[in-house]
Amino acid sequence: MDTKKVDQNHLADHRLIQRENKYYAKASRMDYFDLVIDHAHDATLVDVDGNEYIDVLASASAVNVGHTNEKVVKAIQDQAEKLVHYTPGYFHHQPEQQLAERLAKLVPGEPKQVTFGNSGSDANDAIIKFSRAYTKRPYIVSFMDSYHGSTYGSMTLSGVSLNMTRNMGPMLPDVVHVPYPDLYRTEPGESEHDVSLRYFDEFKKPFETFLPVEEVACVLIEPIQGDGGIRKAPEEYMQLLYKFCHDNGILFAVDEVNQGIGRTGKMWSIQQFKDIEPDLMSVGKSLASGMPLSAVIGKKKVMESLDSPAHVFTTSGNPVCCAAALATLDVLDEKDLLEKSVEDGKYVEEQFLKLKDKYEEIGDVRFYGLDGGIELVTDKKSKTPNPDFANKVIYYAFEHGVVIITLKNNILRFQPPLVITREQLDKVLNVLEKAIVAAENDEVDVPDEDSMGW
Ligand SMILES: Cc1ncc(COP(=O)(O)O)c(C=O)c1O
Repeated sequence: MDTKKVDQNHLADHRLIQRENKYYAKASRMDYFDLVIDHAHDATLVDVDGNEYIDVLASASAVNVGHTNEKVVKAIQDQAEKLVHYTPGYFHHQPEQQLAERLAKLVPGEPKQVTFGNSGSDANDAIIKFSRAYTKRPYIVSFMDSYHGSTYGSMTLSGVSLNMTRNMGPMLPDVVHVPYPDLYRTEPGESEHDVSLRYFDEFKKPFETFLPVEEVACVLIEPIQGDGGIRKAPEEYMQLLYKFCHDNGILFAVDEVNQGIGRTGKMWSIQQFKDIEPDLMSVGKSLASGMPLSAVIGKKKVMESLDSPAHVFTTSGNPVCCAAALATLDVLDEKDLLEKSVEDGKYVEEQFLKLKDKYEEIGDVRFYGLDGGIELVTDKKSKTPNPDFANKVIYYAFEHGVVIITLKNNILRFQPPLVITREQLDKVLNVLEKAIVAAENDEVDVPDEDSMGW
């Protein structure tokens, strides 16, 4: 039975969702709002009831160049008329050839090769395969609070939700998780240097107790954790980790699915750190502006460690998706979106820092370009996560034309399309401040709070 209160502005949304719920598996959606998107352009969404919203989620960072970008849409249309698909498992087509070369050249350092897949999850599976094959070692080390995807390999690597393992075990063997450094909830008096050393000690503990270092193939890290709360590892920690890998013959792999393709103001988020050249990198989401395409970009010598058909998917490297990706990369350049991400990110960060001074519930503000996490807590001293307050804030925002969701249920996820205008950013900031005030005054009636979020 439908117990949810229905907002009169979302009658069509609600009716369609009620019907869909009979047929669509609940394992495949984290519920937030009654929102059935009809069409979208740049950073604007319109639902089936005709309501307009500013999108602060960018389809989970999958449309960095904006919704229905003209150039991307034209590339899709033109390619669809020529060739919808031929599997690169057997023959060749030019969009795949051009994109492989372009991506290989987009990652600095020694020569790279590329393989394509259909989603970020399979790109992370590929990292397991290639790193095991190259090193002939079994173990993979990944991080708590990471999200790497939903295939068996990538969900084993993840560490952010019990529902991603519950009732589905056994997981892939020989994956070990270590804690990801947290610069917000530190111990009293700790500096960034202290935090780096403390977490590096944590990282080394398994190697001193149960994990033979010569049996580890790869360390996979999100340079900035996405679903873990938009948290960047400290520079010193990352350098220690990188050196440890290098000294011990362990491949250093980064997941750029969420944070790559210009999101943070760099093409790759690992470029936020000094002189680190990953052996393997997974890419997806915004690569093809949300069309199903992923890639692994790796050092040529590593990529040569497997022979066919070790990593082949019938529909990977689809020409329409590759054409969309080539156009997406063009748009990032033509519109200077990396630079824009840096400038707008600074602007928004400054505004949130002002709000942080004003409101007790804003505990931490983290921005790396237009890539932000704003922690909502009960109070600044205890730093206790405040998911109820966060739900009120995002629900108020939704009711006032802003689509924003949470990470870990209490962190505002600020990842709009990079083409969002200053005017739209100002409107978002304005609505969010009003949302915080309304939540403080207990004026927000969230329809079905228990089912919201992860
Ligand atoms: C960092 C990261 N890696 C991998 C994935 C999985 O990508 P996909 O959902 O396209 O399989 C995600 C998706 O959210 C992600 O954020």
